[in-house]
Amino acid sequence: AGLDPALIDQGKNVFKKCVACHKVGEGAKNATGPTLNGIVGSAAGQSEGFKYSKALADKAAAGLTWNEAELQAFLENPKDFMKGTKMTFAGLKKAEDRAAVIAYLRSIGK
Ligand code: HEM
Repeated sequence: AGLDPALIDQGKNVFKKCVACHKVGEGAKNATGPTLNGIVGSAAGQSEGFKYSKALADKAAAGLTWNEAELQAFLENPKDFMKGTKMTFAGLKKAEDRAAVIAYLRSIGK
């Protein structure tokens, strides 16, 4: 399915809640959180040089892939989805915000 430009735009706005910790786009570097270029549909825990929590590393080793459903669950409540994660973010309570930010991330290449 094609990406809805209005949803991407909305997601870019939601991403303001993420950008303190996550960089995206050309030349993005790891910060408090890992870079998120190309994250949708990718294996978890693969950002080169980023030191992940054991919780995330374990999920990655178990084969976690950041597809739509996993991102929806993680972003709603990171600590519920992944006990022990070092992502200290309360979560996005609105499903629409989650869908929008996922669409925005999907629109960003590797
Ligand atoms: C990890 C998304 C907000 C800090 C991740 C991952 C995703 C993500 C998809 C997993 C990356 C991977 O497997 O390589 C988001 C989105 C946010 C957000 C979409 C906003 C809605 C934040 C904020 C912070 C943060 C505000 C800092 C206060 C981290 C950290 C990790 C992480 C430290 C690594 C977690 C671990 O190793 O357990 N984030 N994040 N994130 N994020 Fe966020």
